[in-house]
Amino acid sequence: MNGLKPSMELHWYAAPRMRVLGLAVVGVFLGGLGCGLFPVGGDAGVGADGGAQGDGGSSGASVTWHQDVAALTQKHCVGCHSSGGIAPFSLRTYAEAKPMASAMASAVLARRMPPWMPDESCGGPFVGERRLTSAELDTFKAWRDQGAPEGNPADARPLPDAGLVGLPRVDADLPMPAPYTPSAGLEDDYRCFLIDPQLTQAKSITGYDILPGVAAEVHHVIIYIVNKAQAVAMDSSQAGPGWQCFGGSGIADDSGAIGAWAPGVSAVTYPAGTGINLPADKALAMQIHYNTQTGVRLPDTTRLKLMYATTPVTPAYLLPLAAAGFEVPPMAQGFSFTKPFPNTINLLPNIKLWGFLPHMHTKGVRITMRGPGNDCLIDIPRWDFHWQSQYFRTTPYTLPRGEAISMTCTWNNPTTSPLRWGEGTDDEMCFAYVYATP
Ligand code: HEC
Repeated sequence: MNGLKPSMELHWYAAPRMRVLGLAVVGVFLGGLGCGLFPVGGDAGVGADGGAQGDGGSSGASVTWHQDVAALTQKHCVGCHSSGGIAPFSLRTYAEAKPMASAMASAVLARRMPPWMPDESCGGPFVGERRLTSAELDTFKAWRDQGAPEGNPADARPLPDAGLVGLPRVDADLPMPAPYTPSAGLEDDYRCFLIDPQLTQAKSITGYDILPGVAAEVHHVIIYIVNKAQAVAMDSSQAGPGWQCFGGSGIADDSGAIGAWAPGVSAVTYPAGTGINLPADKALAMQIHYNTQTGVRLPDTTRLKLMYATTPVTPAYLLPLAAAGFEVPPMAQGFSFTKPFPNTINLLPNIKLWGFLPHMHTKGVRITMRGPGNDCLIDIPRWDFHWQSQYFRTTPYTLPRGEAISMTCTWNNPTTSPLRWGEGTDDEMCFAYVYATP
């Protein structure tokens, strides 16, 4: 996949010194894929039911846990609300859910739960959308209004297996080689760890799951493909596990990212028939941004799980788009910045855009990506740092040659200093990884 040299065009990679981006990947991508931008779908599904009406029809019909509500919680809630799940309480059984009936209804009616950030009128449908229909909302509301009745246990449905949905299959389970305690002297400690998948032949990565060890101090994780010998040398050149790595992997021969984690991201399975190539002689560098502002500073062992393709797939790339260059004035509210990323490579007719992982820090309020003709690709109208995700379209969007996609970020700046692009948690970003194939 590296046969073609990047042809210079680096608009996609616009950040001056981005740690998040793999320049090499960009190069590969640009060189290897080149151009085509075209609009495939445009805005799919203009939200027919954008606003849930909380009180639709369920006037009189009686609603019970066993007959109605259990099915909904199994479908929409227990993936997180189980013991061992990421939510703080379980909703698997009637005994667990009954005392929560009112909170459940409020949370779903306000669309806080299940958490799903993209605006419905933009860019979808996305894989795995967590969105309740208005009939489902009505059921939660009616159940609460009727006093959360249990109904007949004879109607009980089998409980799903508890636990989170991870990868469908784990082919490699790769923890950090040794625990690492973030440096006491650094509020933002960027550290890279050598992860050796010990391949004897090239693989295509079709899914990954990054499991932070100490969630309270892991701000983000990015996995880069790097030259193994260089990474081994770097690793042994610094004391302790890993090496310091602001701005990327710190390895000269770096062919880009295979995946990333930020709060809210769960296991990612790439679109069927696609995957990221991992040559046998490469290793992985796991870049972790430790942030110790909260006062937590504990030994961390973050792990990476990978799923490999079992049949040949179309090689895909994670393109880093960095909209640097903004300056949010002190105390500004709703300040927006837009940057175009033109597709100026002419080696291939099309780039297919499959998925987006938008990223800002904690002062971001909105991030939107658009294609030519104002096609809406993804819009997160209420940015929440704690609910980040990689969103995949059900069909790719084709970006034709010469066209651009643009990214717009909006922030509130509660401080008396300007906000700019930066590595620290208190700095800001306007960034996205785009999962793309030729
Ligand atoms: C993707 C994971 C996930 C899913 C799916 C999910 N939740 Fe949650 N939920 C959480 C987490 C994490 C919290 C605690 C943090 C927070 O409030 O954001 C939470 C908190 C809550 C709360 C308390 C806070 C609030 O906002 O009211 C309620 C009630 C709730 N969830 C109900 C539900 C219901 C009902 C469903 C299904 C219809 C659901 N959740 C689906 C992860 C999830």
